[in-house]
Amino acid sequence: TTDPLVLGIETSCDETGIGIVRGNHLLANVISSSMEEHARYGGVVPEVAARAHLEAIQPALEQALAEAGVDLADLDAIAVTSGPGLAGALMVGVAAAKALSVATGKPLYAVNHLVGHVGADVLRDDGTEIDLPTIALLVSGGHTSLLHVRDLVSDVELLGETIDDAAGEAFDKVARLLGLPYPGGPHIDRIAATGDPQAIRFPRGLSRPKDLERHRYDFSFSGLKTAVARWVEREQDAETDYSKADVAASFREAVVDILLTKAVAACVDRDVPRLLLGGGVVANARVRELAAERCAAAGIELRIPPLSLCTDNGAMIAALGAQLVMAGKNPSTLGFSADSTLPV
Ligand code: KG4
Ligand code: ZN
Repeated sequence: TTDPLVLGIETSCDETGIGIVRGNHLLANVISSSMEEHARYGGVVPEVAARAHLEAIQPALEQALAEAGVDLADLDAIAVTSGPGLAGALMVGVAAAKALSVATGKPLYAVNHLVGHVGADVLRDDGTEIDLPTIALLVSGGHTSLLHVRDLVSDVELLGETIDDAAGEAFDKVARLLGLPYPGGPHIDRIAATGDPQAIRFPRGLSRPKDLERHRYDFSFSGLKTAVARWVEREQDAETDYSKADVAASFREAVVDILLTKAVAACVDRDVPRLLLGGGVVANARVRELAAERCAAAGIELRIPPLSLCTDNGAMIAALGAQLVMAGKNPSTLGFSADSTLPV
């Protein structure tokens, strides 16, 4: 038997992603982003994102089929992100997936976006296979979550998540404070390279012993953002010639330190010697550097998929769909709907 040919549809945020896989093999990964349309608002505008998906999804589908060299009729299944994410954005992908499923008679699998990020790891072409169990740290503009994955299709546990802003959102907000364009993460990362990460001691959210009792694996970045805002205001009021590079480096260090402290703690507590990273913030140079350092020190295997599979994409959804097919799971009935707060 050949591995299943699966189409994946992802529209949970600002990326319209259509991917096609055969089993664990990537055939196409087409991404159309509406990021530029959101830039002048300083963040993703749900209505704008939904409208952009509506316009992008059909051309993206055609491009993906052409790149993979397959027809809709060849598919064994269709997978779609049903949540979590922006409700209106999710609805576009879900409606498109249902229509395709009805029109082609192909089985449809509704999948969780966060588990999809973990599924991306099966598509690596370096000959290594996803090794389970693993802890997964997923960090983007929309989510900051820590998962314990024992089985991709049947046993994923949410250990913790942000109780306020996502890590990428914090990068974007602090970039704005420093007068940098949106999305600010890459800009902070760039100027931080010339700054001193020890110049200013910014707070690490939910790290005090009392916080750890209830929020051992949860994150909080709103206090950090406020601390940076106060610090910058004070310097501006005093008209000092403060170093943006030092602020960026110290802020970046605070975010990355707490992310990896909690991720490594989860590996140690759960006796899982493996950490998988996912989400757009994985592009951050310091995330990659400190992850490598901390994992090496703790004897943890670090896995980072290629960046095109870390940011939101349809291939990871297709890959998870293929896992469900290969595990003999039943498809979803058409009654499901987009769920902006879908649990893992
Ligand atoms: O996964 P992603 O592409 O999409 C959404 O979250 O929708 O992640 C985008 C987020 C943005 O907040 C962006 O500022 C952040 O990831 N980001 C970074 C870097 N590159 C992108 N944050 C920090 N450092 C980076 N190098
Ligand atoms: Zn995502």
